Amino acid sequence: MKQSIKVYTDLEHGKISKHIYGHFSEHLGRCIYEGLWVGEDSPIPNTEGIRNDVLGALQELNIPVLRWPGGCFADEYHWKDGVGPRENRKRMVNTHWGGVVENNHFGTHEFMRLCELLGAEPYICGNVGSGTVQEMQEWVEYMTFDGESPMANWRTENGREEPWALKYFGVGNENWGCGGHMRPEYYADLYRRYQTYVRNYGDNKIYKIAGGANVDDYRWTEVLMREAAHLMDGLSLHYYTVPGDFWENKGSALDDRESEWFKTLKKSFRMDELLTKHSTIMDRYDPEKRVGLIVDEWGTWFDVEPGTNPGFLYQQNTIRDALVAGVHFHIFHEHNDRVHMANIAQMVNVLQAMVLTEGEQMLLTPTYHVFNMYKVHQDATRLEVNADVGTYKFGDDELPAVTVSASKDNEGAIHVSVCHLDPHRDTDLTLKLNGLNKSLSASSVSGELLTANELNAHNTFERPNEVEPVPYEPASVSGHEMELKVPASSVLRVTIRP
Ligand code: AHR
Repeated sequence: MKQSIKVYTDLEHGKISKHIYGHFSEHLGRCIYEGLWVGEDSPIPNTEGIRNDVLGALQELNIPVLRWPGGCFADEYHWKDGVGPRENRKRMVNTHWGGVVENNHFGTHEFMRLCELLGAEPYICGNVGSGTVQEMQEWVEYMTFDGESPMANWRTENGREEPWALKYFGVGNENWGCGGHMRPEYYADLYRRYQTYVRNYGDNKIYKIAGGANVDDYRWTEVLMREAAHLMDGLSLHYYTVPGDFWENKGSALDDRESEWFKTLKKSFRMDELLTKHSTIMDRYDPEKRVGLIVDEWGTWFDVEPGTNPGFLYQQNTIRDALVAGVHFHIFHEHNDRVHMANIAQMVNVLQAMVLTEGEQMLLTPTYHVFNMYKVHQDATRLEVNADVGTYKFGDDELPAVTVSASKDNEGAIHVSVCHLDPHRDTDLTLKLNGLNKSLSASSVSGELLTANELNAHNTFERPNEVEPVPYEPASVSGHEMELKVPASSVLRVTIRP
């Protein structure tokens, strides 16, 4: 039987914040050093120390916001070590990630420059776990104070007279774990205290993000909302898709068994349940939905690639990761009333990365391609979708065979994205657009398709183009509908310009 998707082009559900397409870069493994920063003297072509190949690839994605410096690193980071002449900066040990030397060559100025080059807004995560209130207050003053002040003067001495615009500021990270092993009651009080000194200088208005729950710790959300909702703009949530056991055996990124494929996708759907339940708690304290749920760490987490430093979290990235990304975006879109931002972990060489590097080589991952195909949804209006798409069964369990999301952008173009999870069957879908007053022609439709024949298809430095999108056309277009042939294991985006 033919399956169908109906998109209601006049039934709108609010804006999909572009910040849902945000990123995260931590001082972890080869994300910052090697991945983004090579230094001005490197033989690798660079712009003020930032490697050009990676920068160029990331600029394509329209990255709206970038979180830094961690992660767990944030609660051990002392920002003053990372400003001033680089040769004088303190060398420290990155105790959390691999015990390697951190030379602090990438600090506040370098991060802000990276954001400028990417066109991304900075999202800074402050240190609550091992930092002082004064240190946090001075960092905000250093970055945003315009005029005469000790920190603004120091910024000028260090080469930057103009303050930076800084909107997003996180008050600690994973305060229930690496950020201090606190109870929610204790952290709620600390949050109230620290955030007091995260000041708005001049016109710079900070959106304050409180450290949120780990996965399904609903009590954390309850306590934070009860005690501090009025003092925050956002509350974070972390959830990683781990097919195996987090501590023992997470599973390999390159596993090609269907059992792992199914388990991974099934676990990525858990994001929907988590957002629903955390939002329900938030609704009780904030029915107007002023406080955003900020999913500032998400993505796949597998065992590290054999032979690599276990503290560097370097993993490959396959068509399975592409589907995990697509499924997450559809879930985030669905929760656009509460989810104001999401940041995939992480941008380069760590966990579910956009790009991988090896010396001077770089490759784009299947996840990169999904971010590129889906960027059209940024700040577009979500449309109602009704999908009758059957199920993908594995053993006694099942998943929807297809997930769909649709949006309308400022110019009236309609974007429909489809994730086809079933790895065995190609599917014929009828896509109907309700509410259009003009018939469609083939020339008003364009698309891109990302698919692969192997469950672990991926790009390598030897074969960097194994998984990449190809232009896509519907099998036929007539009236207000079109026939789509959707291959097994694929991510598809169709754009209609009525
Ligand atoms: O992204 C890797 C780590 O995962 C982050 O540092 C931490 O916040 C989380 O546990």
